[in-house]
Amino acid sequence: MTQAYGEAWYWDKRYAEESTATFDWYQKYESLSPLLHLYIPTTTTNHHRRILVVGCGNSAFSESMSKNGYTDIVNIDISSVVIEAMQKKYSGSPHLKYIEMDVRDMKAFENGSFDAVIDKGTLDSLMCGHNSKPNAAKMLDEIERVLKKGGVYILITYGIPSYRLRLLRESHSWSIKLHLIDKYLPGESSKGETWELTRPVPINSDGNLKEGSPLENMDVHYIYVCTKV
Ligand SMILES: C[S@@+](CC[C@H](N)C(=O)[O-])C[C@H]1O[C@@H](n2cnc3c(N)ncnc32)[C@H](O)[C@@H]1O
Repeated sequence: MTQAYGEAWYWDKRYAEESTATFDWYQKYESLSPLLHLYIPTTTTNHHRRILVVGCGNSAFSESMSKNGYTDIVNIDISSVVIEAMQKKYSGSPHLKYIEMDVRDMKAFENGSFDAVIDKGTLDSLMCGHNSKPNAAKMLDEIERVLKKGGVYILITYGIPSYRLRLLRESHSWSIKLHLIDKYLPGESSKGETWELTRPVPINSDGNLKEGSPLENMDVHYIYVCTKV
């Protein structure tokens, strides 16, 4: 990824060029939905889940969530261009809110105000930019702050466990579960092994996959489910 992925101007320019497009990085909602329902149930009565999607871009993920039982989804992005387009597109959707905001500074949200935070590709973008370490640390601090106790931060990334687990654990005390999803869509050619999405992957105490594990050779995206303890 390019260094510009951490910069607002890069995303503004890109979204201005594809103003009416829809694009989902890595995975679509439909493939991840069983995992989301496992960690963010929609079935409990009397308690609606408030969900924050950070760095939403022009993805269809939140729209699909809203059609699938989630009724309170707040989406933020640093790009004013994409936020304006999404506000227009979803002006008639009461379950979807779009706000221009930097994930490193979410002071508009109170402490403990969300049940779940979803991040598909946004920490990855910051990790590619300048000052990646301090930016990632600020982002993770803010996410932890806005989550309720027991709330979950669901990070969907290409980042391998030895790097991402270290980063996540550096100054935070999450309880972390790791899941995997094949990079290929059903019908595309995958490289053999598969792993059931809703089954957490066993990891060593140092955060690595067990040595010689067949999972090492799989072409996957990683999903870190971090519960605020
Ligand atoms: C790789 S894209 C992922 C978009 C979307 N989540 C998806 O899955 O398709 C990263 C997104 O993060 C946004 N972004 C980058 N830095 C950000 C920041 N500091 N605060 C909020 N959003 C940011 C970009 O504008 C872009 O929309």
